[in-house]
Amino acid sequence: MSEGLATVSYIGATILFILSLGGLSNPETARRGNWFGIIGMGIAVLATVLGPRVSGGGIALIIVAMAIGGTVGLYAAKKVQMTQMPELVALMHSLVGLAACTIGFASYIDTSTVFATPAEQSIHEVEIYIGILIGAVTFSGSIIAFGKLSGKVGGKPVLLKGRHWLNLMALLVVIFFAFVFLGSDSGAMRGISLAVMTLVALGFGVHMVMAIGGADMPVVVSMLNSYSGWAAAATGFMLSNDLLIVTGALVGSSGAILSYIMCRAMNRNFISVIAGGFGTGDGASSGASAAAAPQGEVKAVSAEETAEMLREAKSIIIVPGYGMAVAQAQHTVNEITQKLRAKGVNVRFAIHPVAGRMPGHMNVLLAEAKVPYDIVMEMDEINDDFPNTDVAIVIGANDIVNPAAEEDPNSPIAGMPVLQVWKAHTTIVMKRSMASGYAGIDNPLFYKDNNRMLFGDAKKMLEEVAKGV
Ligand code: TAP
Repeated sequence: MSEGLATVSYIGATILFILSLGGLSNPETARRGNWFGIIGMGIAVLATVLGPRVSGGGIALIIVAMAIGGTVGLYAAKKVQMTQMPELVALMHSLVGLAACTIGFASYIDTSTVFATPAEQSIHEVEIYIGILIGAVTFSGSIIAFGKLSGKVGGKPVLLKGRHWLNLMALLVVIFFAFVFLGSDSGAMRGISLAVMTLVALGFGVHMVMAIGGADMPVVVSMLNSYSGWAAAATGFMLSNDLLIVTGALVGSSGAILSYIMCRAMNRNFISVIAGGFGTGDGASSGASAAAAPQGEVKAVSAEETAEMLREAKSIIIVPGYGMAVAQAQHTVNEITQKLRAKGVNVRFAIHPVAGRMPGHMNVLLAEAKVPYDIVMEMDEINDDFPNTDVAIVIGANDIVNPAAEEDPNSPIAGMPVLQVWKAHTTIVMKRSMASGYAGIDNPLFYKDNNRMLFGDAKKMLEEVAKGV
């Protein structure tokens, strides 16, 4: 393929990526957006493999690598459960970081490129240093995020004493070795600088994500998504590949916007989240211990009683959470919704921005079950309607409906906006036990006078409720 044709293909792929992002912003156009992305990536890969910079044996090597990588990816994507999706995404981000690191070291070792001026060489070296730095932080941070999301690493924030000083020292070390790397003539010193910086960056990634508490994980996931974009852009600079730079910048900036949206949704300050342990003191004590223990009595109901309450209600708001995803109860939820709507009941869904374990998790599940989009509301659109609602049903949600966020200033989630389900005439919470949610804190909602608990697996209980309805 000629240079000109490869450039035209790259421009076409870039346009498709932008259309893809635009499509993904709305559930109705998301499927089309995905297709734009798939076609764009197909064109990008073909134009790169068949392009002027790959020749002879290179193509064979790339095809073998693609076959291995493609098989692993296909197997992982086919095997993964919907609830494990965020872990898979975190693992994928770690691979982008690892790729940036290895390409950085390969570019450093490869001395075949001849630079026209010393300035050009310095720019290339800065690209290598920054590429490895971002790549290493993304790699180790994403591995820890994977561990936390999959439950292999505890969700509680690990807050080392003087952690802010540690972070500052790490930054100073990285800057110091950047000067050594760029200024030294000794190959050994330059190699050591890169190695030390990589170790510090890996340590920083681990430290940063370990210090973040359960409820703040959504911000970390989207932030690492953004980092992986910048790591890809850095790789693009190292390889002088324009498409990789543009694609990386698109992922990096959209991830940064998502992080900002997440922070706003959770009433968090971005810097506080990154610095770690928002709402918790220094050292081992976490805010959870200072939070008040809930008071009151827990009242259980049966599926039949629940069905009766739903039959008599005129307005119902359903709040889905992570438990609905675990139970795969979305189809039964839709069945009940259709039955109630056919009887003239006003049924709507309230979606919290961080419900489940990934952005848009609930929207995806409800769309899969064919729940009409026009009755699925964002938190801001529906939160004021709870006082005029007969029954609010909480299906496998916990943290996102926890009144402690508003009522207890010592709670680790104090200040986080939540769905005010307790303001409905009656609230029914479906879950298997009194266990806490992702943030690991008690929920006073369960003890409120107007709340009833329907204990059991969400799908099983909803099937019984559906019969009763
Ligand atoms: P959680 O607070 O995690 O609560 C889910 C509840 O579902 C649990 O208390 C669990 O109680 C119940 N459950 C689990 N399996 C169930 C089943 N088969 N049937 C019925 N109930 C079941 O979920 P949430 O309210 O959706 O809040 C999300 C949390 O995850 C927030 O803290 C958020 O910050 C965090 N997070 C979100 C994201 C994104 S981007 N959305 C990413 C990472 C973390 P039982 O064990 O008693 O059944």
